[in-house]
Amino acid sequence: MDTSKLMFKDGLMRNERILVTGGGTGLGKEMAEGFLKLGAEVHICGRRGGVCEETARELMDKHGGKVVPHACDIRVAEAIHDMNDEIWAKHGPLTGLINNAAGNFISRTEDLSIRGFDAISNIVFRGTFYMTQDIGKRWIAGKTRGNVCSILTTWVWNGGPFVVPSAMSKAAVNTMTQSLAVEWGRYGLRFNAIAPGPFPTEGMSKRLSPDADMGSSMDRGVANPMGRVGEMHELVNLAVLLMAPGAEYINGQTIAIDGAMYNASGGNFSMLTAWDDAQWAAARAAIEATNAQDKAKRTV
Ligand code: HXC
Ligand code: NAP
Repeated sequence: MDTSKLMFKDGLMRNERILVTGGGTGLGKEMAEGFLKLGAEVHICGRRGGVCEETARELMDKHGGKVVPHACDIRVAEAIHDMNDEIWAKHGPLTGLINNAAGNFISRTEDLSIRGFDAISNIVFRGTFYMTQDIGKRWIAGKTRGNVCSILTTWVWNGGPFVVPSAMSKAAVNTMTQSLAVEWGRYGLRFNAIAPGPFPTEGMSKRLSPDADMGSSMDRGVANPMGRVGEMHELVNLAVLLMAPGAEYINGQTIAIDGAMYNASGGNFSMLTAWDDAQWAAARAAIEATNAQDKAKRTV
């Protein structure tokens, strides 16, 4: 990201300690960089501990400050609890949480096994709740302020054909955001969410457009009213607005940042109804090869 395009002044986030789940790669890494650049202490977690370590080193070499990597699988409630114990004991209470970690792949729903459904929903639906509840309880017990931003998709409003486990799970997290903003507002805790349109990342492109020739133009911005995909600094500026001091009265909201794609075309994968069996078989083979490569790097 070109950090000269950040809209905010240096030092704005100097009193923040923020955990970004899935912060070793993609959008999570970009948000981690933005918060660090503005003075926050940043914690990042993922199953590939080595990837988080590399990211932490890279960001600190570039900007100084403190990025702490954690190997943690958010599907495992005990692992979340242990990581947060360590953060609170060694570093102090978090002030913010970005629920960014996710899993996804395109598939016809009739081709999904139960394990395939669980692979996604256990990360997005269950893992996001486990993390939010564990941290929320610490904030309530410690009477400290806290701020959560979850990274969703515009499918929470109109459904996600060919990504049904993701769409269902993200919609549930949208409901969690609205519910906890009301239930835990009295503790000084805030809950908002961002629904990005296409911001190409390796993790997303390899699972949602596994072969650029296969008909999904979403991650090239072709079908977007603005004729382009999102730029990382645009997303990061929105995340800073929600996580930095100054706009605390925003609570319980999910904000789209998609160049009006959702308004124009639904912003989902409805175009994949045109695919034939061979295209689905090729997509699945490519996605499973990516999954296997990533899995080989997991340390938890
Ligand atoms: C059908 C598939 C499949 C596919 C995997 N499965 N890929 N089924 N079509 N393409 C099935 C497998 O066959 C298996 O079921 C089950 O899913 C579990 O597979 P594993 O590889 O063992 O899963 P696991 O190790 O738990 O990995 C989780 C994962 C993986 C979700 C499958 O993709 C992952 O770790 N992803 C993390 C990163 C990621 O997805 N990033 C993208 C975020 S983009 P069986 O029954 O055969 O054993 C995003 C939204 C973008 O979220 C929005 C854009 C607008
Ligand atoms: P990504 O790079 O693949 O990011 C996903 C991250 O989640 C990875 O770092 C992954 O790390 C982590 N993760 C997955 N399962 C985990 C688990 N069980 N425990 C801990 N960490 C886990 O993809 P991305 O595109 O940046 O996506 C980031 C977020 O943005 C997701 O919520 C996605 O749905 C959302 N989003 C993205 C776009 C887009 O266009 N890119 C659009 C809309 C929404 P490990 O594999 O090491 O665990």
